[in-house]
Amino acid sequence: MRSMIDQLRVIIASGPVGPEEITRIQDIVGKSLPKMRAVGLHEKHEGPGRYMLYKDQELGFVIMMMVWTQGQKTPIHDHGTWGVEGVLKNTIAVTTFTRCEQDPEEISQMILPEDSVTFVLPPDFDRHVVEQYAGDDAISIHVYGKELLSARCFVPGEGFQDLQLSAKLLSIEV
Ligand SMILES: [Fe+2]
Repeated sequence: MRSMIDQLRVIIASGPVGPEEITRIQDIVGKSLPKMRAVGLHEKHEGPGRYMLYKDQELGFVIMMMVWTQGQKTPIHDHGTWGVEGVLKNTIAVTTFTRCEQDPEEISQMILPEDSVTFVLPPDFDRHVVEQYAGDDAISIHVYGKELLSARCFVPGEGFQDLQLSAKLLSIEV
């Protein structure tokens, strides 16, 4: 994980994260996933939930691990910052939606097996649903441009509303 953090820091310190940087970050996260499994990261949790693995005090980005139980699914939401998501264990699906504030429509769905990665990038690729997809509990690794204390979540008939997020701290050796 230290090597992944060092590589991320070089890219993120070089300036704003756009499509080119997102591609490089996806590559780094994708190559790190098997190494994380090799050191047993996927077993270092206390059940379904959000876990903070690392927060960069200087550059502000965070690395999270999320454990998804069977059938678990987020509402349509966005984060207002860039993000890269990789699958550490089993399978998740990510569905992207249009930017409409009142009635966002599905654009596409990606089924992501172990070791695959995807991204979110405002303003056009920011709105999505993440869900555990088939099989057993899934685990994903997320790198975000900033710590997410809330997300804008879509409530049908009411539009988007801020929802507070919490995360457990997971002490791991980085
Ligand atoms: Fe998300």
